[in-house]
Amino acid sequence: MYLTKEEEQIQSGEAGETLRKAIEILVALGDIYGADRLIPIKSAQIAGVSYKTIGDAGLEWISDLEGQVKVPATLNPAGMDMEDWERLRISPEFAEKQKRIVQAYKKLGIRCGCTCTPYTLEGFSAGYGDHLAWSESSAISYANSVIGARTNREGGPSALSAALLGKTANYGFHLDENRVPEVSISVECSLRESDYGALGYVAGKIIGNRVPIFRIKDTPEKDDLKALGAAMAASGSVALYHVKGVTPEACRLDFREPEEKIIIERSQLDEVYESRKRAGKEPDLITIGCPHCSAAELKKVAELLGGKTVSKETWIFTSRELKNRYPEYIRSIEESGAKIVCDTCMVVSPATNSYSCVMVNSGKAFAYVPGMCGAESVYGDMEVCIEEATGGKGKKAGGSH
Ligand code: F3S
Repeated sequence: MYLTKEEEQIQSGEAGETLRKAIEILVALGDIYGADRLIPIKSAQIAGVSYKTIGDAGLEWISDLEGQVKVPATLNPAGMDMEDWERLRISPEFAEKQKRIVQAYKKLGIRCGCTCTPYTLEGFSAGYGDHLAWSESSAISYANSVIGARTNREGGPSALSAALLGKTANYGFHLDENRVPEVSISVECSLRESDYGALGYVAGKIIGNRVPIFRIKDTPEKDDLKALGAAMAASGSVALYHVKGVTPEACRLDFREPEEKIIIERSQLDEVYESRKRAGKEPDLITIGCPHCSAAELKKVAELLGGKTVSKETWIFTSRELKNRYPEYIRSIEESGAKIVCDTCMVVSPATNSYSCVMVNSGKAFAYVPGMCGAESVYGDMEVCIEEATGGKGKKAGGSH
């Protein structure tokens, strides 16, 4: 891989040990994947934040780093709400380690937004054709597919290295030839809301890590695409997809029709919803917000919960920035007894581990909760989740409404 004079000096340690390690990681990846050079990036999003997933070894690695990031960089969800961790019964020992991890990132100049929807943060926008180094799989899928930006599936260390150098290795999804659809998926039924998460769950299992182009009858909203991509990245490892007539590259570029064609029917999506019937138990935790709720989703949850009381533990995940921006939705949700939780999620927080059956409206959470939290997961759309949370009948809150 070609390195500039300045990059060679960094490689030989002249700019300090942190940057030497950072370039070593990027060059190693570049050599493995055949990159020709390093290219500048616009931003970085860094996974590997929850103490639950990175442990003491990760904490130590990050704490040893010095310097400042060269491009805007933000963090993936941590293992707890950084301001209100006691509410979900996180242990003080866990909280102490988690705070040290976030502090170590902060010291490097990284914004501690702790969200998997960095594209909703003020001042963190990504545009068509921008090169990025993002590392949370749903955010990667959204950046590549919905925004038309370009990022590989970075690991935490490589995204952090890219942030420190302001560059990444030029391979994979940074190159036009790897962004071409490899398989065509026709969806035979109409889709609404959580159908997109169910579709992503089914499609990801079939296509693995290939780039699909969907033919869908309906016109999906951005949140529908967010759910589709998140689920495909979890049940498979899809980092980029196109939707004919909808996503930016499918609209601007003249893709050749892939030879392989797959049809997905309603009955395959129904099987995901039937997880509720198949479950051997009743859900004891209801969670919404994987990926973190957008403003529109918070509004919908607030409307569905308005004037009702939850009778089951109910957690709604969003970014702290959106929580602060929409106090009226937050108030309405919290009046029901549901908890708004920021900086973390049902998968990366240890809080979920003490429940046995988690109801979700996310194909990604549906795929990950069993392995990551040791609980069964069942799938339902947002309305059904809220019905489950409120005891099925939408009880009025204590007569006060
Ligand atoms: Fe985000 Fe956690 Fe889901 S990081 S995409 S809410 S598993």
